[in-house]
Amino acid sequence: MALAVLVSGAGSILDAMVEADLPVDLVVADRPCAAIALAAGHDVEAMVVRRPSFGDDFDRDGYSAHLATTLADRGVDLVAMAGFGTILGQPFHDRFAGRVLNTHPALLPAFPGWHAVRDALAAGVDTTGCTVHVATLEVDAGPVLAQEAVDVRPDDDEATLHERIKVVERRLYVDTLRAVLAGEVLLPGPSPDSPSSDPEPGAVP
Ligand code: GRF
Repeated sequence: MALAVLVSGAGSILDAMVEADLPVDLVVADRPCAAIALAAGHDVEAMVVRRPSFGDDFDRDGYSAHLATTLADRGVDLVAMAGFGTILGQPFHDRFAGRVLNTHPALLPAFPGWHAVRDALAAGVDTTGCTVHVATLEVDAGPVLAQEAVDVRPDDDEATLHERIKVVERRLYVDTLRAVLAGEVLLPGPSPDSPSSDPEPGAVP
């Protein structure tokens, strides 16, 4: 399976994937970011498919279709979002149904959305964590593949807690992707060589 990683930020999870020898074939960012330089430093093919707007005029479906075509044209069949800052629309999920993975810095379904770490702190929980899941059109709501808890410390702020969560994400996401690539975890989407868009009866352990 050809693996693409989608990034927008620092790329520390991408770095962990590459350092762990996961076969990352392509890195794509929606904006210029440190993760692109990091990929290039590892000799991994990297490109920016620039999001044209962050305003109300953003054509989400148009961008999603363009990104899906860009990846499909390069033979990608598995997509791992790692700090990707654009919610992708229906055309992307149609093209890669069940083959888009994400990591989220909370124990979903708790604290979905962009401010999961801040929201967990504001709620006063003593435990949060991270979730590796299949990304679907509904944000942070797809089938969960792996989760791990992280304790909240009394002196935590958003940055310290997020960094401790990311330490876990770097391991959990790598392990989960490795299991998916080895066929040990079955994803719910169609197999790459299947012309049908019907879901195959795969299980998600
Ligand atoms: C991770 O916490 C991920 O769950 C969230 O964004 C962060 C990415 O960090 N969606 P990095 O850019 O890989 O360092």
